[in-house]
Order: sequence, then C-alpha cells, then structure tokens
Amino acid sequence: MVATMDDTKRLAIAMKLADIKAVQEFLIANEQRFISATTDSELVKRFQDMLKDDQKNLGILDTVIVQYGVQSEPKETITEMVKKLDEMMSGSELTLFEKVFQHELLKHQQVMSGIVIHKAAQKVGADIEAAIAPLNTVNFENRAHQEQLKGVIELLGVRELTGMDADQGLWARVQDSVAALTGVVGSVVTQTTDKSDMNIQDVLRMDHQKVNVLFAEIKGTQDPAKRKEFFMQLSGDLRAHAIAENEVAYPAVRGKYAESDLQELYDEQNSWFPALDAMEKMDMTSDEFMSSLNRLMDEIMDHVRQEESTFFAALRDNFSDQQLEQIASEFKAKKSEVQRQAAGM
Ligand SMILES: [Fe+2]
Ligand SMILES: [Fe+2]
Repeated sequence: MVATMDDTKRLAIAMKLADIKAVQEFLIANEQRFISATTDSELVKRFQDMLKDDQKNLGILDTVIVQYGVQSEPKETITEMVKKLDEMMSGSELTLFEKVFQHELLKHQQVMSGIVIHKAAQKVGADIEAAIAPLNTVNFENRAHQEQLKGVIELLGVRELTGMDADQGLWARVQDSVAALTGVVGSVVTQTTDKSDMNIQDVLRMDHQKVNVLFAEIKGTQDPAKRKEFFMQLSGDLRAHAIAENEVAYPAVRGKYAESDLQELYDEQNSWFPALDAMEKMDMTSDEFMSSLNRLMDEIMDHVRQEESTFFAALRDNFSDQQLEQIASEFKAKKSEVQRQAAGM
C-alpha cells in the first residue's frame, strides 16, 4: 500500500487513540487504588461511580478503535509516562490528595486528546468522524469526572492542611458544574450515545454505515491519492468485517436461520476478497475501477439489506440482550485481531 500524506494522518490518529486507551487503563488502575486507600464512604462512592464509568468507557474506546479500522501501539513516550506515573501513584511518597491531583491532570489530558481527535477527524475524512462518534460519550464523562475530582481535591486538600472538613455545599457545587457542562462545552463533549453496551446488531449497523460513507467519499473525490486512501480503508474495513461475520456472527445463528440464506451471505462476501484484491491493483481513476466499484456497491447494499432484515430478526428472536452483547464483544475482538495482523502487530 502506497503511503499518502493522509495515510500518515490516519496512522497518527490511530496512535492517539491507542494513547487514550493506555491512559484510560491507567485511570482505572488509579481509581481502584483510591478506593482501597480511602475510608470516607462518600469518597469511596464517588470513586466507585467513576470507576464504573471508566470501565464502560474502556469498552467504548475498544469499539471506537475497531470501528476506526487502523490499529497502532501507543506512542513510546506515553507508555513511558504511564510507567513513571504508575510508580508514583502506587508508592507512598505522595499523599492521597497529591495522587488525586495527578489523576485530575490525567483526566484533563484525556479530555483534550479526545477533543483533538474529534477535530482532526473533521480534517481527514467523514468516515473517521462516523467511526469515532461514540468517543463523545467518553469525552463527556471524563469532563464530568474532572468536575467531581476538583471537589475531591478540595476536600482532601483542606483535610490534609487543617485536619478539618471544608465548608459545606461542596458536592452541590460539583453537581451544578456537571449540569452546566452540557450547555457550556458544546457538541464535542456532549453525550450522544446510549450508555448501555452495544449489541451485535448495533455494531454491524455501525460498520455498514461506515462503508456507505466510504463509498460516497471514494466517488466524491477526483484526487487519485485521496481515492486510494478511501478505497484502502474500505478494503481493510470490509475484509475485517466479513472475516468477523464468517467466524463469529454467522455461526451464531446456525440452525436458527435458513441454511440456504446463510450460505448465500457467506458466498456473497467471500467473493469480495478476490474482487478487492483486483481493484487494489487497478488505476483508481479508470472506468474499469469505477464500474467494479459500482458493482461491488450494489452487491454490498443488497447483502446488507438481507443482514439488517431477516438475519437481524434471527438474532433478535433467538438471543437475550446479554447474549447479543456477548456476540458483539466476540465480533469486535475478532475484527481487532484481523486489524492488528494487517498492521503487523
Ligand atoms: Fe455485515
Ligand atoms: Fe456480511
């Protein structure tokens, strides 16, 4: 694959997403330590709620990274930073107040990284914006956590300095600032997605929508480099999606969905692998390429219609919500594995 300027940008965004994930894992470890280091039940409750959000948000980050479709390791300096901070946060030199203070700075870093990715996506492609949309929830909650942590810092700081509790009314103020957030900080950190885990239909639908966006992007540009960039993204996304369906989503409905219909789905998408191989070698400004692209698009739209109607119904009718979420996790894990292999990881 020829690296264009925008491929480089896509990789840079992939690395930033990996950075956010590394920091998120560290935030979770910190909160677990805060809970065991605190006896104040009010604080324990605050940290527990935050931990619950952060664990859920780690799942959302995984979804975003798999949806984005380009995998990367975190930047070395981030891995180093986390390692050094981990020594400080698990050691006994810092007081709890000082540790929570560091934690709030990390939350700030996390929010800013989220906003930067959001803004960068607007510059590189609509498909990226579509893929990272759930990041809004993570950003919103991290921003809310920052407000809560300011309250915790005030309380712990006053206690450590004076041995006394700060004046009343602290948590009410924290709640007010969180409530004000939605109006103040604008769309970038607004909560947009459902808090519950996504089921397999949601995850598949998101993939299907992203493919639509990519087709529109490919057709919408005459620039050969951009066209190649979008097509290579489409090709990688389709392959990972089809492999994960072949190995996770389709086998799940065996015996619960007409065998001939299922076989049709397998056959259709397995024919796209050689088609994509051939198209990757074509001159992407040629008529040959454009007619192959239109044919592929028609086939995919037809295939997706079948999946989102009868195949989705077979899933819905035969599995509990929890089972559908479990299939979604396995599907994402499979896609992630395919993407990491493609990235040479
Ligand atoms: Fe699909
Ligand atoms: Fe499919």
